[in-house]
Amino acid sequence: MNPFDLPVEKIEALVEEHGTPIYLVSRSKIRENFEALDRGLPAVKFYYAMKANPHHEILKILVAAGAGFDVASRGEIMAAVAAGADPKKDLIFADTVKDPKQIAYAHSIGLDDFTFDNMSEITQIARHAPGAKVHLRIIVSNEGSVAHLSHKFGAEVSDAVALLEAARDRGLRPHGVSFHVGSQCLESERYVEALRATHGVFDAAAAVGIELKSIDIGGGFPVRYMDEEIDISGMCKVIEDEYEALFGGVGESQCQLVAEPGRAVVGDAVALVTKVISESVRGGQNWLYFDDGTYGSFMEVLLYKVKYPWRGITDGPMKKYVLAGPTCDSIDVFSRDESGEVCAVELPSMGLDDLLIVGSMGAYSFSESTRFNGFEPARFVYLD
Ligand SMILES: Cc1ncc(COP(=O)(O)O)c(C=O)c1O
Repeated sequence: MNPFDLPVEKIEALVEEHGTPIYLVSRSKIRENFEALDRGLPAVKFYYAMKANPHHEILKILVAAGAGFDVASRGEIMAAVAAGADPKKDLIFADTVKDPKQIAYAHSIGLDDFTFDNMSEITQIARHAPGAKVHLRIIVSNEGSVAHLSHKFGAEVSDAVALLEAARDRGLRPHGVSFHVGSQCLESERYVEALRATHGVFDAAAAVGIELKSIDIGGGFPVRYMDEEIDISGMCKVIEDEYEALFGGVGESQCQLVAEPGRAVVGDAVALVTKVISESVRGGQNWLYFDDGTYGSFMEVLLYKVKYPWRGITDGPMKKYVLAGPTCDSIDVFSRDESGEVCAVELPSMGLDDLLIVGSMGAYSFSESTRFNGFEPARFVYLD
């Protein structure tokens, strides 16, 4: 069940009981999304990228579904362990920029799988997690994805062997290659290209005596926001076929495949309900101010120009509004056009106390929300 489709009476009853802003979460939708990936790539071990949404109940659902977790900090490790994850087998430290204190903490509780992409990370991991298993992250094309990650992360493929040798020489155990095709990746071809680049690194490493055994295909699996064509099983099939052609078949070879999906697991399992707390007319335009905004759930509007589906819980004639959040910053406006400029959007006539429901709010909303101006993040309400 997608909570965005809840009937109006049900939404109003939930608001009556819990107030606003609230995240309406469907447990069954989270399970369904996770199972779709699991079915699509049955031999893959999935490590949920908890940066997408680390709410405790969500982590518990995923532990029960058999997921591991991609973690980036002590805080995330502690949250995953509190939800039931075993640090020795369920966690990978996949951020390639690690605070040494956090490497030491991870090592002290048995986490033994770190991702790196440069010499200084080798130094830090060798110092604070001696003998650890490591994946080398390589740069791959992020073309067509919403959030590009290869700007900041990944080693050039041409440097891969030297880095793997350096890791081995510092006593680490080079185990595999990882990549990320960019978040909200809509083109399966990106995974195909990345697997081909990975195959080249496997061959080059084998030539210097390093037998790699694992491929971490990262995250990137997309979620539907507006009218994107999303075909998770088709995307998985493309990945599986390419893997089979290059590496000899999922489950048959010695190589292990892992993935770190975030957005696709939780994105459309959550809807936000926010209330109009003020309204005005500015420069001839109608403005609505809500109890959630850019510093709360809508950070990705600013960061990546994400467009969310929304509907007003009213039935008046259509009118144009600029939608803004409650904080003392004029950047706190979440109706923006393709180039990120503030714009007015059409909604049924709304005013004070009316409700807006926003779909596909599960990923990078709560986790990116701030405490700016003392506003608390929206509260979680589990529907099933
Ligand atoms: C290392 C790593 N793995 C996985 C993810 C999750 O990506 P997505 O939410 O696109 O599946 C991210 C996102 O930033 C990431 O940085």
